[in-house]
Amino acid sequence: MPLVTTTEMFKKAYKGGYAIGAFNVNNMEIVQGITEACAETRSPVILQVSKGARAYANHTYLTKLVEAAVIENPDIPIALHLDHGPDFETCKSCIDGGFTSVMIDGSSLPFDENVKLAKRVVEYAHDHGVVVEAELGTLAGIEDEVNVSAEDSSYTRPEEVEEFVTRTGCDSLAIAIGTSHGAYKFKPGTKPQLRFDILEEVEKRLPGFPIVLHGSSSVPQEFVEMINTYGGAMPGAIGVPEEQLREAARMAVCKINIDSDLRLAMTGTIRKYFAEHPDHFDPRQYLKPARENIKAMVKHKLIDVLGCNGKA
Ligand code: G3H
Ligand code: 13P
Ligand code: ZN
Repeated sequence: MPLVTTTEMFKKAYKGGYAIGAFNVNNMEIVQGITEACAETRSPVILQVSKGARAYANHTYLTKLVEAAVIENPDIPIALHLDHGPDFETCKSCIDGGFTSVMIDGSSLPFDENVKLAKRVVEYAHDHGVVVEAELGTLAGIEDEVNVSAEDSSYTRPEEVEEFVTRTGCDSLAIAIGTSHGAYKFKPGTKPQLRFDILEEVEKRLPGFPIVLHGSSSVPQEFVEMINTYGGAMPGAIGVPEEQLREAARMAVCKINIDSDLRLAMTGTIRKYFAEHPDHFDPRQYLKPARENIKAMVKHKLIDVLGCNGKA
């Protein structure tokens, strides 16, 4: 099947009490690892591309890699999404360039400016058959060149969500309930806890409306240890507990964003490979196990965290 939007995926996910995985793609091995895992578990999937990914790999290469994944995996629904669209122009370029979904991230703007920007993107996107994710509330952590400290982050205010969704016409809403971007989400020794009370309140105010969680990597300690054992230094890297993500997926959360876990799997595997094979220099030799470990990690997410296996 051709690329799809997220509309049907989210409808079914909301009803079925599961979430769709939205995985960031930056190169061929990542696209392959993710989509092979999805095909083998019959899971719908969102492949997402950030501004940084477009700068690194170029729009055409990325869309063609995703096109190849669609051809190779004809039985699973795949959506191509712009992650953290920073402005109207970037969103327009992705809408014109074959994406089926875009995020406009006006979360750092005052409420009315966020509404105005999101509404403009929604009008253009909907005219072109593309859906839009917008965001209210600010996550902590690092994304692109923006680093938001825990002090500057702010939870979504449930009392604002109905007005925001009505005025913008957005198709899904990313909210801040304690997740954060990157591999250092919580201070070592503290107990990670998402604000399910906020999620519940949002769900009450927007019944049936798909909610998105960014910053939802779990930072598997297996890969952190692999990195640290083989020459890396990532002390205190901690992610969101998987049980809490599973709980969110049973509620109104229909899309869960995962990027850092892919990076950890890839980097850990390559570091280990280099340490064990110091004389190897063929990239295929170390990228192959990296792709395999991405695939295994994604399979685990689809089955044990998102619950979207068998839903394609
Ligand atoms: O939330 C951001 C994603 O992890 C993308 O990261 O901007 O470094 O590609 P990036
Ligand atoms: P992580 O850094 O937790 O993987 O979050 C990814 C994300 O939110 C992409 O938009
Ligand atoms: Zn994000």
